[in-house]
Amino acid sequence: MTHTHAHPGHHHHPHDDADLAEILDLDGAVFGPMLDRITEWVHGQVSAGTRRIVDLGAGTGTGTVALARRFPTAEITAVDASPVMLDRLGEVAHEHGLSDRVRTVAADLDESWPPVGQVDLAWAALSLHHVADPDRVLRDVHAALVPGGAFAAVEMDALPRVLPDDIGLGRPGLETRCHQASAQSHEFDVHPNWRAQLEAAGFTPVEQRTFDAADDPAPSGLAQYARATLHRYRTGLSDMLSAEDLGVLGRLLDIDGPDSVLHRDDLAADARRTVWVAHHP
Ligand SMILES: C[S@@+](CC[C@H](N)C(=O)[O-])C[C@H]1O[C@@H](n2cnc3c(N)ncnc32)[C@H](O)[C@@H]1O
Repeated sequence: MTHTHAHPGHHHHPHDDADLAEILDLDGAVFGPMLDRITEWVHGQVSAGTRRIVDLGAGTGTGTVALARRFPTAEITAVDASPVMLDRLGEVAHEHGLSDRVRTVAADLDESWPPVGQVDLAWAALSLHHVADPDRVLRDVHAALVPGGAFAAVEMDALPRVLPDDIGLGRPGLETRCHQASAQSHEFDVHPNWRAQLEAAGFTPVEQRTFDAADDPAPSGLAQYARATLHRYRTGLSDMLSAEDLGVLGRLLDIDGPDSVLHRDDLAADARRTVWVAHHP
């Protein structure tokens, strides 16, 4: 069940990163309300004096911005291995008027711990499962935290679902087959329950909670998010899906055609995320 990424960091291609950056931005819009509930819960667990935050594997800054809003006096260091992501993150921070509170550090967590100094809160959303040696990274996070500080890790329980099982085109179960192919190709990595590894790194206590997007009102931007994820399946999984499934994906992605995913009224955002808040004693 546990799988860590076999070739993290180094395989980044700017084109893949640009595609992924778009999905992360859309994910931030669709699942923003869930993220706000997550940061609210994290905020309630950590010290009132939280001023220095590090966002590990920050991507395009969805979490960075949510944290900056939740902790209005904090300074946030956003770390990522990808310059494409960090460029976008810098723009996003600027658009939100956060340039004076957000700085970016380009660093591959697999190589060494970046120079972020002592922090009150470390955050790693959808990124801890990417690193080659999570135990080493967790020990480094622990060492960077002040006593009384905390580390929050967020992971997806599964890839989000947007389509019903039977979409009236092709064989039912298209999205399930895309998810299975994603898992086989390591496009989506299953993560462990991090609790035992957090405790082994010296964190105690470790709180854990699962959040469900179904508890939020219907999201905005869902059709665009669906289009971007289906596009990624069609391009990334083209050698694993059947010709029939690729044909149906093509019809859904033909945005001027009669079957365009942008015109469906049966899309839903079905997603759950688990969050661990691990305390530095
Ligand atoms: C799925 S994205 C999540 C981004 C963001 N935290 C969010 O919640 O939207 C994972 C990010 O981790 C970064 N990443 C993966 N491996 C890394 C490593 N070894 N060092 C630094 N960043 C890494 C990727 O570049 C990517 O931006």
